[in-house]
Amino acid sequence: MWVQSLSLTDLRSYEQVDCTLQRGVTTFVGRNGQGKTNLVEAIGYIATLGSHRVATDAPLVRTGATQGVIRCEVVNDDRVITIELAINPGSANKARVNRSPVPKVRDVLGLLRTVLFAPEDLALVKGDPSDRRKFIDDLLVQRTPRLAGTRSDYERTLKQRNALLKSSSIARRSAGTEMLRTLEVWDEQLAASGSELISARIALLDDLMCLGRSKYTFISGDESTLLGMEYISSLGNDVPLLADRESWRLAILESIKNKRREELDRGLTLIGPHRDDILLTLGQMPAKGYASHGESWSIALALRLASFELLRTDGVDPVLILDDVFAELDVSRRQRLAEQVATATQVLITAAVDLDIPETLRGVRFAVNSGTVTMQEAS
Ligand SMILES: Nc1ncnc2c1ncn2[C@@H]1O[C@H](COP(=O)(O)OP(=O)(O)O)[C@@H](O)[C@H]1O
Ligand SMILES: [Mg+2]
Repeated sequence: MWVQSLSLTDLRSYEQVDCTLQRGVTTFVGRNGQGKTNLVEAIGYIATLGSHRVATDAPLVRTGATQGVIRCEVVNDDRVITIELAINPGSANKARVNRSPVPKVRDVLGLLRTVLFAPEDLALVKGDPSDRRKFIDDLLVQRTPRLAGTRSDYERTLKQRNALLKSSSIARRSAGTEMLRTLEVWDEQLAASGSELISARIALLDDLMCLGRSKYTFISGDESTLLGMEYISSLGNDVPLLADRESWRLAILESIKNKRREELDRGLTLIGPHRDDILLTLGQMPAKGYASHGESWSIALALRLASFELLRTDGVDPVLILDDVFAELDVSRRQRLAEQVATATQVLITAAVDLDIPETLRGVRFAVNSGTVTMQEAS
């Protein structure tokens, strides 16, 4: 699939910008701070309903404006779909597909698939568990959009359950049978959506493992150090990772029961997918804290390339976005990356210095300069 046009209104630094894009490689070149990432961030937002740079929507809307709009036309199998998203910080976002409003914004998930690699991805290796959970959940939802509903059910349940736990931990003496009965209802719901998320994440990680390992070996050129990935469950090691969903559901309920006292004391839900992690290893060592800067980059890149490959095997090439990454890679990694991405249906690249982009990936060139995006004549 590919994006044939992108329009932004009051988004980030852009009051209005319209770009016509093509298949193959497109590069956006311009000095830092000119608005390159703002363009590709918007495309990534349509695909995942989130930014790779910020956790909230407010920074996406141009300072002084109340609403930001992203519109793009996506070509898939010769069919064109128009997706339009209105971002309203403080109130509900709205989406339209082919000009008709859709009931839920998350209905647009799956219509555009992207894999975005950016400097922020170093956090996949060096950052908190939440960075790795976001990675796996974003990929999960792109592959299986239905799970976006599960994810938001889980988050809603978690919030309400935490609120109940907190109120009872503040007023412990009033935590009577009534409250415990309500808590049990939340337990059931937490276990229902939580087990679905955990088993889906583990299945996905299982699919990603071999691809990630071979991409790492290719990118790093190091045949002797293997990349490993392991799901770390907050429930401990008692449940076999590839257990089915029902086993996870029962395990969550059991574990929650054992933690009842501690949860009431702390006013927090202590187990579940929101406390899980993915352990990345190089050889026998955990990558976090041990991998060098260059190795960490290779791991992050391997995870993104593996995601691309996985989505591709589902049947449709996702749009590949490489935001400001060539400057971070040495020449041999640049070449290997170029080799990997040359066959993608559409590749969007941003760079401050176009010489950083390997010759084979020049493609169509846009100059980005203080908010104007101009196509350059081929030289
Ligand atoms: N919400 C916003 N409103 C106005 N300007 C913004 C907003 N968010 C970011 N910017 C501006 O966008 C510019 C950064 O654009 P970006 O696309 O990240 O640059 P780069 O070309 O380096 O990738 C900065 O000048 C920043 O001040
Ligand atoms: Mg940038």
